[in-house]
Amino acid sequence: QTHKPCDLVLFGTKGDLARRKLLPSLYQLEKAELLNANSRIVGVARHELSQSEYVDLVHEALQTFMKEEICEETWSRFSAKLDYCKVDMKNEAEYSELAKHVDQSQRVMVNYFSTPPSIFGAICKGLKAAGLINDETRVVLEKPIGHDLESSKVINDQVAEFFSEDQTYRIDHYLGKETTLNLLALRFANSLFANNWDHNCIDHVQITVAEEVGIEGRWGYFDDAGQMRDMVQNHLLQVLSLVAMNPPVSLDASSVRDEKVRVMKCLRPITKETVKEKTVRGQYSAGVIKGKSVPGYLEEEGANTESNTESFVALRVDIDNWRWSGVPFYLRTGKRMPEKLTEIVIHFKNMPHNIFKESYGTLPANVLTIRMQPREGVEVQMLNKVPGLDDHMVLQETKLDLSFSEAFKDQRIADAYERLLLEALLGNQSLFVRRDEVEAAWSWVDGIFKAWEQTLDKPKPYPAGTWGPEGAALLLAKDGREWD
Ligand code: BG6
Repeated sequence: QTHKPCDLVLFGTKGDLARRKLLPSLYQLEKAELLNANSRIVGVARHELSQSEYVDLVHEALQTFMKEEICEETWSRFSAKLDYCKVDMKNEAEYSELAKHVDQSQRVMVNYFSTPPSIFGAICKGLKAAGLINDETRVVLEKPIGHDLESSKVINDQVAEFFSEDQTYRIDHYLGKETTLNLLALRFANSLFANNWDHNCIDHVQITVAEEVGIEGRWGYFDDAGQMRDMVQNHLLQVLSLVAMNPPVSLDASSVRDEKVRVMKCLRPITKETVKEKTVRGQYSAGVIKGKSVPGYLEEEGANTESNTESFVALRVDIDNWRWSGVPFYLRTGKRMPEKLTEIVIHFKNMPHNIFKESYGTLPANVLTIRMQPREGVEVQMLNKVPGLDDHMVLQETKLDLSFSEAFKDQRIADAYERLLLEALLGNQSLFVRRDEVEAAWSWVDGIFKAWEQTLDKPKPYPAGTWGPEGAALLLAKDGREWD
């Protein structure tokens, strides 16, 4: 699918995200011939750079952050699309220079704000002052959109003064992952799952987003945010809403987003009364991951000696609607866990009556595991009869195991940013977060912060390389369950 010719303007083109993800993703789109031949990429930063210095900078970013060699043929097409414009993004007067680099009579202008949200408003003003906003102009916003509901409203209002909701694309890169998209296929293209997806059939759901990395030199940002704002408010709640939503009428942006936001509005508030029973916070101390010693959170580069910021959160979430009545969703996410692992585990209910009591005893329930990363795949734990001429049935737990790398051998798994950049260029908003979703998520998360403040509890330490503080296991144990 090719898009209309675009001027994709990358604000913050020298930053980490642009170099690590955006530029390599655009290169991959070029390689797959998905960029319109007349589209251009205009890098913007406040540094003085010649055209050739910018092209070198992009080449270096590709060399550093791509796992594969640069293909000369792709590079020559890609580099011909690159352009650079120096703009002090806070200085309105400088945007007239940008106007010389784009042409809205020929191309749609797609502005990617890969900058701190504190300057989103200033960029919008600058674009307006230079006459660069028309009805077709789009804006792509990187997270974090705010620190809480109130600050997110301020940022969204600043942008909304200049761009309508239809022109605004809020990124949550988890929505661009292949395996996230596969959730829609799994749930709505397979009656086996579609018809068994509620409180009648499902006992509980676990969502784990474990990271091996620590805060990767981002103390300033992370200590202010913590794992709840960095991961739960956005990525985990997005995944949860895709798992829990009702079937959308179609795949169009408003149908999908209407259903997701409905889930967010049904999240039972966690209050001062329930916060101890439903939440666990942790902060890593020094430890060992895969044989390598790593420092504790408070010993990270740039760290203060004291901080109550959480690097781990586990939650029991209840969704107050018909479909999920009585079905807990357990969420956990943390830095410095034993391995990088994102998965959704659906535990089905036990059989109502057991005819295998004598040969097997209690029958374990079916478990569906959706492995989002790494080793992308889908797995179903089930019981089968062991072949043999024994007197009675001998059963054994076995797995149906679908691995994407085996089932789709010739397909490359694209990075989430490739998908999202392509969708933004195509003008399709389904995989972007609507304002009401961001606000519903903040409103629920704000309630947890308020409850944490009221209890005066602090995060519990856990050694790096473990699955979080003891409380995380207890959270499930008290409901008679355990993490997979
Ligand atoms: C980002 C967070 O949004 O997601 C990071 O800011 C985190 O702290 C990252 O490490 C995880 O993304 P992924 O795709 O590696 O799971």
